[in-house]
Amino acid sequence: MSGYYKQKGVDVNPESIVITSGSSEAYSYILKLIAEVDDEVLVPVPSYPLLSIISQLNDVVLKHYRLVYDGEWHIDFDSITSAITKKTKAILVIHPNNPTGSYVKKYEYKMLVEIAAKYNLAIISDEVFLDYAITDNEQRLESFAGKSDVLTFTISGISKMLGLPQMKIGWLIVNGPQKYCVDALSRLEMIADTYLSVSIPVQNSLRYWLNQFHHINSKILDRVKQNYFLLQGASKNNVASSVLSVEGGWNAIIKLPKIRPDDEWVENFLQNSNVLFQPGYFYDFEEDANLVMSLIQHPEVLETALNLSIFKA
Ligand SMILES: Cc1ncc(COP(=O)(O)O)c(C=O)c1O
Repeated sequence: MSGYYKQKGVDVNPESIVITSGSSEAYSYILKLIAEVDDEVLVPVPSYPLLSIISQLNDVVLKHYRLVYDGEWHIDFDSITSAITKKTKAILVIHPNNPTGSYVKKYEYKMLVEIAAKYNLAIISDEVFLDYAITDNEQRLESFAGKSDVLTFTISGISKMLGLPQMKIGWLIVNGPQKYCVDALSRLEMIADTYLSVSIPVQNSLRYWLNQFHHINSKILDRVKQNYFLLQGASKNNVASSVLSVEGGWNAIIKLPKIRPDDEWVENFLQNSNVLFQPGYFYDFEEDANLVMSLIQHPEVLETALNLSIFKA
């Protein structure tokens, strides 16, 4: 696994990696480690729905901070500082975020570290979509796995990286000041040893799967890019709907007129084109009429949806 990060120019000590059965389990381990009952973790909105369930199962309270869009997505740092309380233990970033597709930028990282250091918080970075950058941006931060300014947990796994969710293997990496890392790693080892959830055959296969990484990743990325550019092309000169710009990941957000609630839009698309969109409220969008569309679907399916009048208007 260190080899995978080395190719990105990120040094990862193999001793700092904890294997899990997936990213969701990695989250659970981290929350068990850093939080007591009713402690709080700050998570971005919009972001993906499983987080609230994972936190509930671990007796942790999620507090939201905002991502704002003005042609690209930014972290609203005021919403982070105003959400911090004595119970806050960590700031979670999803890099790139699902569904906004936004990566954390280098200047945003600096601000995150300042806040985390000031309030003694850990940073958790979920990087399951890291390798799906659709556009280039020099300001984009590489993996948090190479960062040691504050206690940092980096989560990833092969479910998205290799499109293999059923294989059930992921990991978390611990970085940060030595005094925190040693303690965190020994306690994480205890947690992992208690469950022993990843089978040896699966662990042994990881080397084989990681060797397929470039091949599989480039195929999925080609599909994602093709679909995104198709969608963007269709939305050009279209007054009825617009596609928010996507930096990476597997989803696109489509903004529609606020003439009906999300569910009615979803139903409408399903009936008319057999294409399933996800309603924005799944992802805690504050407003109606933001639908989320998967970019990994077959381009022919997408083309069917693009023939709908709403995209032609
Ligand atoms: C941002 C993000 N992190 C983690 C996961 C879960 O990944 P895993 O299958 O490794 O548990 C998902 C699943 O969609 C996701 O969107």
